[in-house]
Amino acid sequence: MRVVGVTGASGLLGKAVVLRLEAAGCRVVPFSREPRSAEARKFTAPLDVNGLDAIIHLAGEPIFGLWTAKKKQKILESREAGTRMVVAAIRSAERPPAVLISASGANYYGDRGSEELSEDAPAGVGFLSEVVTKWEAAAATATAEETTRVVMLRLGMVLASEGGAGRLLYRMFRSGLGGRVGSGRQWMPWIHLEDAAALFVHALACQSLDGPVNAASPRSVTNAEFTKAMARVARRPAILPAPAFALRLALGGLSDLALHSIRPNADKAVASGFTFQHPEIREALEDLFGSGG
Ligand SMILES: NC(=O)c1ccc[n+]([C@@H]2O[C@H](COP(=O)([O-])OP(=O)(O)OC[C@H]3O[C@@H](n4cnc5c(N)ncnc54)[C@H](OP(=O)(O)O)[C@@H]3O)[C@@H](O)[C@H]2O)c1
Repeated sequence: MRVVGVTGASGLLGKAVVLRLEAAGCRVVPFSREPRSAEARKFTAPLDVNGLDAIIHLAGEPIFGLWTAKKKQKILESREAGTRMVVAAIRSAERPPAVLISASGANYYGDRGSEELSEDAPAGVGFLSEVVTKWEAAAATATAEETTRVVMLRLGMVLASEGGAGRLLYRMFRSGLGGRVGSGRQWMPWIHLEDAAALFVHALACQSLDGPVNAASPRSVTNAEFTKAMARVARRPAILPAPAFALRLALGGLSDLALHSIRPNADKAVASGFTFQHPEIREALEDLFGSGG
C-alpha cells in the first residue's frame, strides 16, 4: 500500500498510525476538518480519494466529556455520516482504494459478564453499542464495491502516555483517587497504543483479513487486576473503591461504562499473524507511565 489516506490523522491513534505508515515506506495523505499542511485534504463531502491505495478511517467526535443530547448526537453522526461519506467517495472513485480499515469499538458488545466474545457474537444494548453497530454497518457497505476489502478494528481502551482514558486514569491514581470500580470483577478490554497502531498497519497488508476484528490485548484483565497494576505503576495504594465524583470528572459520560464487563478475545487478529508487543497489563503500564507518564 503506497499511498494511504488517514482520517482523524491529528488524533491520538492517528498520529501513531501515521508514524508507523511512514516508517513502512507509505506516503500518507491526512484528512482533517481543518487541513494543516499542503498534502492534507479536507474531511468534507465530496471526499477526494483520488490516487489513494487505501484509507484508514479514524475520525469521530471524542467520547470524553459530558454526554448531553447534543454531544451524543455528534458522537453518532460524526461516525455514521462520516463513514458514509468515506464509503460514498470509495464507491464513486474511478480507481477505488483497495482497502478500508475503519476504527470501531469493543463497546459494540455492551455489558456481557465473563462471556468470551469473538467477532460473531451479537451486538449488545446501550448507546455506544448502537453507535458502533451503525458505524460498522456504514463501513461494511464499502464491500459492495467488490474491489475494496473492509476491516473494522473493535478497539478496547487505547492506553497511551500522550492522552486518552489511560492517561486520565493514571493521573487519577497519582492524585490518590484511583481505585477499583464497583465489584472490580468486570472485564476491561485494553490495548497499548503501539499495538493498536501496528494492528492498523497489519490489517492493511494482510489480504486475508476482513470484517470486524477484536483489537484488544489477548491477556484480558478484570478491573481489579487493572487497578492493582495501575496502583503499582502510579506508586499509590488503591485500597478504597474509586469515588464516583472523581471518575465522572475524569471520564464524563464514559464513567457509567466503567461498570460494563466486556471480554473480547484476540484469536482472529493472532490467527492472521499479528503479534502483540505489549500483551501484559503490568508491563504495558510500566512502559507507558513507569517514568511518570
Ligand atoms: N482511543 C481509544 O481508547 C479508542 C477506543 C475505541 C475506539 N476508538 C476510536 O478510534 C478512533 C480514533 O480514536 P482517537 O483516540 O485517536 O480519537 P481522537 O484523538 O479524539 O481523534 C479523532 C480525530 O477525529 C477528528 N474529529 C474530532 N471530532 C470530530 C467530529 N465531530 N467530526 C469529524 N471528525 C472529528 C479530529 O481530527 P480533525 O480535527 O483533524 O478533523 C481528531 O483528531 C475514534 O473514532 C474512536 O472512537 C478509540
